[in-house]
Amino acid sequence: MLNKALAFSALAALAAAAPRPQLINLDEIPDYTPTVTMVPGLTAQVVTYDPTAAISAAAADVTDSPLLQEKRDLLQARAACAAQPTMANVYNIDVSSASAFRADTIAAGKANNAVTPSGYALNFQNSGKASSAYGYLGYQTVSSYDPSICANKCNSITGCLAFNIYFERDPTVEPGTGCTNPSAFANIKCSYWGGNLDTTTLTNGGQMRSSFEVAIAGSNGYTTTKYQVISGYTTPKFLNTAVMNAPTDCNGADTYMGYKLFNEAVFDARLCSAACDAQSAYNIANPPSDGSKPKLCKFFNTYILNKNGVGQGQYCSMYTEQWSSTYATNTGQNRGSDKYTMSFSFMYGNTTDDGTPACASTDSAFCSAYINYIPPVSTIVSSFTPAPTTVTSTQVNVVTSTIYTATITAAAGHAARVRRDGNGTETGLDYSISIIESIDPSYTNKPVDSPQTASSTGLARRALATPAKFANWPASRISASCSIIATGRATTTVVSTASAPQTTVAVTSASTTTVYGTLTVPGVQLASPTAIIGSLSGSPGSYDDLYYHLDLPFPIGAFGKTSSSIWLEINGCVSLNTGFGDFVNERLPSTNMADTTLLGYWDDLYIYQGTQQGIYYDITGEVGSRVLQFEFYTSAFQRRTEYFHFIMTFYENQVGLVKYKYFDISYNGLSATVGAQSRSAGKFLQYSFNQAVINPGLEITIDTNAGTMTHTG
Ligand SMILES: *[C@@H]1O[C@H](CO)[C@@H](O)[C@H](O)[C@H]1NC(C)=O
Ligand SMILES: *[C@@H]1O[C@H](CO)[C@@H](O)[C@H](O)[C@H]1NC(C)=O
Repeated sequence: MLNKALAFSALAALAAAAPRPQLINLDEIPDYTPTVTMVPGLTAQVVTYDPTAAISAAAADVTDSPLLQEKRDLLQARAACAAQPTMANVYNIDVSSASAFRADTIAAGKANNAVTPSGYALNFQNSGKASSAYGYLGYQTVSSYDPSICANKCNSITGCLAFNIYFERDPTVEPGTGCTNPSAFANIKCSYWGGNLDTTTLTNGGQMRSSFEVAIAGSNGYTTTKYQVISGYTTPKFLNTAVMNAPTDCNGADTYMGYKLFNEAVFDARLCSAACDAQSAYNIANPPSDGSKPKLCKFFNTYILNKNGVGQGQYCSMYTEQWSSTYATNTGQNRGSDKYTMSFSFMYGNTTDDGTPACASTDSAFCSAYINYIPPVSTIVSSFTPAPTTVTSTQVNVVTSTIYTATITAAAGHAARVRRDGNGTETGLDYSISIIESIDPSYTNKPVDSPQTASSTGLARRALATPAKFANWPASRISASCSIIATGRATTTVVSTASAPQTTVAVTSASTTTVYGTLTVPGVQLASPTAIIGSLSGSPGSYDDLYYHLDLPFPIGAFGKTSSSIWLEINGCVSLNTGFGDFVNERLPSTNMADTTLLGYWDDLYIYQGTQQGIYYDITGEVGSRVLQFEFYTSAFQRRTEYFHFIMTFYENQVGLVKYKYFDISYNGLSATVGAQSRSAGKFLQYSFNQAVINPGLEITIDTNAGTMTHTG
């Protein structure tokens, strides 16, 4: 005999944009009175549950296949005064009246001293009422008050989750004409249920049969503690009387898919998993017409819905994403004087896929790169009818913002280092710089920069790391999830005007186009670079604030001060007579630097281990007109994603003139000082101080003799 059926559901329309309430839609729940047909005088009654049929019915219901409804066999009424099956009064319980029966201390002692069978929990004890719960599975009379007998029987009944053992004052013959109040005996019954028991199920306190009063005593209830494990789903989490009220996902999408309600069957979590799986299959086969991804069921919450304590059915809420039990916040609803509560609530999630989506707020750059997303261009045409005397013409200013998803360093072709003077003789010494000493100012109060993983193979700059959340996802899931949030839609707005105006009012509107591209950054530029610090094959260490005393083959200088014994600072400067490590740049004139200093880019620059960062030099040209170049290929202290790349050029035959050329400057000089200064000469030339004017391609020529600064680019 199969009890089941169809259930009621709200899964059909899944396209709603706003999160739908997950509270139970009480207006949609049909009133339901569970069928419990305990027949007086029957020693046992069997109601069967067929899980295979019920589960396939639950799955088939998703595609609206109707199910046959079978009726229970009804038993014939017995004739008045016919003998009833009785049993010996083994406990000598007082059956003389209903009130004496209810007050009997022996019955109470049996109930209060009963041992809870293993695998079950006690729900109530020594009640004067019997349960009427969800999922009636029959009853039997037993010869002794022993819950373990009922537990063994329940264990053998498919779908049995709970039982109620109690004494019942029953008539020895069928009450009726000629025997309206026959003598009584103490019956012992176990009733079996496919849903949980609790005190709200205690609704049967006995009844009058003719003048005979049926009464209940010593009623104990027990519910299983073994929860259903479903293959492919996580260990069930017992939520007891609370049910989920889940939030929207990280993209604001509703994760609640809808619900199904099963009734006339026992509680079986597999009904809900079957519906969940069938719903995913159905949605895949019938994808949304707007091109969006089908919603897949990855999580469900199933429980018994009770109206005034009477089980109305097994509710099954489905979700696209797994949520923690902290969202199980709904513990009941009222409608008028009716109180709806939930019991035996469990949640289950898909073990291989928790349904977490890629999030637009954190993953769109990665996702756009991962799926090689090309932003579509859409044109919006809006028609506009001007007022009789006015027309508006709209000018759309498109602002393009570029997000670089990968960085490639353009390799520079470095030639062998051979230097020859005018008559062809190799004169290497005239073209090399000796490092006399290196000084580390070791600022004790400066925070330590966190270590960077060394890599000997070139730069790994602005690389696109795979976010940790995607680490164990199969490629298909990343692609599917990413395709939802890859961003960038170029929009062109065209406004068509209906008729000729008399006056025209012009308005402008802005639209932003986001494009993704690959950023190519220049590599080291010098033809024959020699490292003063760092290395093209990967810097051996990370360096900060160091400065170097160098011996040049010819003197350089500024404002009439010259020397071939100069100092080179990592922090973007070249100075005469002494060096300095100060990393906080100042406005010129400054007393925090060497007396005579050329400031190519005074900022807190930094060289990171394992990168091609460093300071390189090259000397070219003939003796007498040699050209000295220092190339800074650096990053910044604790700002490892910022880059500062520039060359300072000095001329043997134009002492006092210096050129600065910039290639890659993060934030265009917002935290740097550029210029030249000599305190002893009382002069300075400041090109910029903390101004965003140092653009890639800029070349500044500072002539400290003439007191001029010119620039190109
Ligand atoms: C869990 O999710 C995966 C990926 O969508 C799916 O292939 C699988 O069938 C799901 N498992 C169950 C039990 O529904
Ligand atoms: C080449 O010029 C250098 C000076 O620049 C001089 O010392 C050398 O003798 C010259 N060599 C020849 C072969 O003339």
